[in-house]
Amino acid sequence: MAANPYQSIETGTPGRIGWRIHYFDEVGSTQKVAAELANDGAAHGTVVIAERQSAGRGRMGRQWHSPPGLNLYQTIILRPTMPLAEVPRLSLVAGVAAAEALESVAAGLVALKWPNDVWLRGRKAGGIIAEAVTDPGQGLRCVLLGIGINVNLAPDQIPEELRDKATSIRIATGRQCDRIALAAALFNRLDSRYMEIQQHGFAVVRPRWEGYSALTGKRVTVIDSGARITGTVRGIDAEGALMLETESGPARIMTGDVTVAGAYD
Ligand code: BTN
Repeated sequence: MAANPYQSIETGTPGRIGWRIHYFDEVGSTQKVAAELANDGAAHGTVVIAERQSAGRGRMGRQWHSPPGLNLYQTIILRPTMPLAEVPRLSLVAGVAAAEALESVAAGLVALKWPNDVWLRGRKAGGIIAEAVTDPGQGLRCVLLGIGINVNLAPDQIPEELRDKATSIRIATGRQCDRIALAAALFNRLDSRYMEIQQHGFAVVRPRWEGYSALTGKRVTVIDSGARITGTVRGIDAEGALMLETESGPARIMTGDVTVAGAYD
């Protein structure tokens, strides 16, 4: 393992997010490394960060472009006491934390696209994945919360097919960004928001998520397992589902990919 540049931001306080940071030059996916550490008993708040991923994973089996030396690729091991069905809410909570952390470097440019995209100036700069690890009885063992943020990626470092959809902090602001300071801000915000929902429930974070919502009031199409539904976004409900107003009445969307008319999908 290489020298750990993120050691300086480890809080050292067990139970806090970022209390211990495992750092790697290269991994397949930080999700996989975190799964192994979690299986070996790593505590809540343990983080895995890699400089580069050779098999970075996005939602729905997609790849996550993970070149070295530019971005943040991290997985946080969470050990929440919540029903399995509530795990998807954690990616919304992480979205709020990521948006708040990004405000310090890209003030006023940040938005969230349900369920898990972080946008800067209307393009995707980050993505979140919340993978539940269960025991044989389907009880929740832990959650592997993966967060990827394009930090100092230049336009010509974005793969051709993503150029009209993806961005980075550097592209959106015209400035280089200190990845270590950004990671510290992210863990700090996530720790606060996580404690908030543990104490008061998801309802406290919902208005904050809605404050960043890129979709509210927009006409969208959601595709889930081949089914399409079109409507106008009204926000998210108390469980984190996307609320749509469709021609046949209100609809509640739990999973899916959202396409926005006139914006990046
Ligand atoms: C998405 O938008 O599809 C979610 C992307 C999540 C990417 C992060 S990068 C760190 C962690 N390791 C992975 O392999 N994926 C997540």
